[in-house]
Amino acid sequence: SEDSFLLSDGNKIPCIGFGTFGLDNNKKGQDIIKTAISLGYRHFDTASLYGSEEILGKAIKASGVSRDELFLTSKVWKDDMAPGAIRKSFDRSLHALGTDYLDLLLIHWPRANENDEDWEEHLLMAWNTFIFLKQEGKVKSIGVSNFLPQHFDVIHSCSEKPVVNQIEFHPGYMQTGTVDYCQRHSIVVEAWSPLGRGALLNHPVVEEIAKKHKVSTAKVLLRFCLAHNVLPLVKSSSKERLKDNLSLFDFKLSEDDLYVLRGIAEKTGWSGQHPDLSIPKAKVGDF
Ligand code: A2P
Repeated sequence: SEDSFLLSDGNKIPCIGFGTFGLDNNKKGQDIIKTAISLGYRHFDTASLYGSEEILGKAIKASGVSRDELFLTSKVWKDDMAPGAIRKSFDRSLHALGTDYLDLLLIHWPRANENDEDWEEHLLMAWNTFIFLKQEGKVKSIGVSNFLPQHFDVIHSCSEKPVVNQIEFHPGYMQTGTVDYCQRHSIVVEAWSPLGRGALLNHPVVEEIAKKHKVSTAKVLLRFCLAHNVLPLVKSSSKERLKDNLSLFDFKLSEDDLYVLRGIAEKTGWSGQHPDLSIPKAKVGDF
């Protein structure tokens, strides 16, 4: 349907989420989340790393919206990949969020660092711990973030597969190989920074298409995700823009539009610069 994606474990996930990375971890940030809830956002993405779990928990409590109407995702950071540390991190997340379960828990990063030679063994143990948490009923779905195909290979023979991979995705960095891999394996791809960390909002190609459809460039970029069956995680500090980003279904990108937008691709991306996630051809530059 238009408003949710089906995960391979049978659970549903709202097709647009509110990302809390970089939000002010104070009353101001909390008020933005409250505004988002009042506008109709029901899917919130956080992580132990972000420091935003507590304001998210407070905003949810203040909103009066019941827990079962919300979809909450958090993540375990790479320093906490040992089984005991995963459980502690998860318990801290639940406590900060003021809830007794999560809808989705993600491994935030595939390996501790580029020097970890035993990263495959560590990843395997971490994923098996995630499977236990799911079997214990504490989290409804389990997935990963910032994974490339070689990372999935390591956990391929485990009893459960990740249902989500959250990666950087926008016309400037489409990660086609990883997206294809995920979609072939029924793993829903979520996009962090769907607006190219803001850098694509004024791109002339995006502007031209936005003008044609009489919508904002942000909406073009968010529809671009949906057109590729990728779930965008958006954020904004303005009520108007939050509202704008939620009304995605009043226009549709044509095949021509998509073709032109894809032409922006493969010039840059933050992930491509990272030694753990390096894509040889990627380099920093303008779109
Ligand atoms: P602002 O808070 O001023 O609205 P990304 O998700 O790619 O990292 O980009 C996020 C940035 O894009 C945010 O900092 C946000 O800034 C901006 N943004 C979000 N929605 C819109 C929109 N509809 N129009 C313009 N800018 C937007």
